[in-house]
Amino acid sequence: MTDLRVVDVAEAQLDSVWEVRIRSFGPGGDRDEWRKTALRFIADGRYLGVVDGDQLVAAARIWPFEQWWGGRRVPLGGVAGVVVAPEYRGQGVGSLLMRGVLQRCVEKGYPLTALYPATTVLYRHLGYEFAGGRYKFSFQAADLRTLGGKGTAVRKASRADAELFLQLAGKSHETRRSNGPLIWPTSEIESWLEDEDNFAYVADDGFVVYNWSDGNLAVDELVAGSEETARALWATVGSGASIARTVHAYCPPFDPIHLLAEHEAEGDARINRWMLRLVDAPTAIAGRGFPEGVVLEADLRIDDPELPTNTGDWHLSVVDGVGRLTPSEPSSDALRLGPRGLAALYAGTPLTALRGAGLAAGGAATADSALDAVFGGATPYMLDYF
Ligand SMILES: CC(C)(COP(=O)(O)OP(=O)(O)OC[C@H]1O[C@@H](n2cnc3c(N)ncnc32)[C@H](O)[C@@H]1OP(=O)(O)O)[C@@H](O)C(=O)NCCC(=O)NCCS
Repeated sequence: MTDLRVVDVAEAQLDSVWEVRIRSFGPGGDRDEWRKTALRFIADGRYLGVVDGDQLVAAARIWPFEQWWGGRRVPLGGVAGVVVAPEYRGQGVGSLLMRGVLQRCVEKGYPLTALYPATTVLYRHLGYEFAGGRYKFSFQAADLRTLGGKGTAVRKASRADAELFLQLAGKSHETRRSNGPLIWPTSEIESWLEDEDNFAYVADDGFVVYNWSDGNLAVDELVAGSEETARALWATVGSGASIARTVHAYCPPFDPIHLLAEHEAEGDARINRWMLRLVDAPTAIAGRGFPEGVVLEADLRIDDPELPTNTGDWHLSVVDGVGRLTPSEPSSDALRLGPRGLAALYAGTPLTALRGAGLAAGGAATADSALDAVFGGATPYMLDYF
């Protein structure tokens, strides 16, 4: 290893990226489809690699998402496909690559970045921390079949409904003050809707997308603006009960379906956890929603070795559902956080947990409950893996 550099992946290097991916994630996948998607990341400067001389030895890509926080949308770089060639592992190549990824998130103007970690160590070193989960529940198809909602008109959806789906989901997340769900590029939603393996139905104030999964049914997303629509859409999926015994569903742990369905088919949920990092703390705070009617004035001291623009003495004020982080004078009462504590706090992790893990220190003891109230709210979740 002589000349390790972070570079933008070039089209001519995609065969090498594919080879490292196979060695990292195992065989399988549609190479042509992967290549088509990869070219879109390359065109937009969102595919980074590490080269040793002219040999590509690592790669990662960045999805251009937005994420709901407190019912408002915040731009987010979703980091995926992080791979290092086996013979280069354990030598700091993954860390070098991830530093390049963070820098690119800065350049792209994403105040947040998130990822699903296969190992936490690498990402924690870079300032990421657990912030939420992807929950998979199971229901009995027969229960869903009889949920009713027969007065609600439900029609088959098509590719042309992509914008409508985005609007309906947006309205639901604003109303629920959702934390965590992603907003995908419209082109991705169009391609899901034209995939013949996905079944999509739409009502006036909601929609569902589901598919077959090992002889059972799996709901990828269900949005309903009213109880009637929730009943109608879940019953549409449950109408498959003569063949499918179980309906798996990606949904938040507080979704109304938990209050409507008689049984959960399996008593537990499967959870994949994702990590978050603030790239630009003032913009991330200004961009998210906060609970109305909760007021907070607090001093923070942030130390962020990877992204020094976050480092410093700050004053956090939250009024009327809007937050501001402004530079301030040092304060002996400041709550001290690194990037991991800041990310976990942003996602509503209680201060007692942060203090218990050594991710927060100092601060006025009486401010903890106000900070919890400001950042707390609906449990952060995502529906999708990326
Ligand atoms: C995970 C992966 C990207 C790490 O790359 P790498 O170049 O070995 O990482 P680094 O050398 O920069 O290591 C950074 C830190 O992570 C730790 N680390 C790396 N791989 C680890 C693993 N599998 N388990 C636990 N810690 C690990 C290192 O020990 C180091 O921590 P330290 O400085 O405290 O010792 C690489 O092993 C890989 O490609 N794995 C297969 C694919 C994969 O899992 N990708 C991640 C998808 S989210």
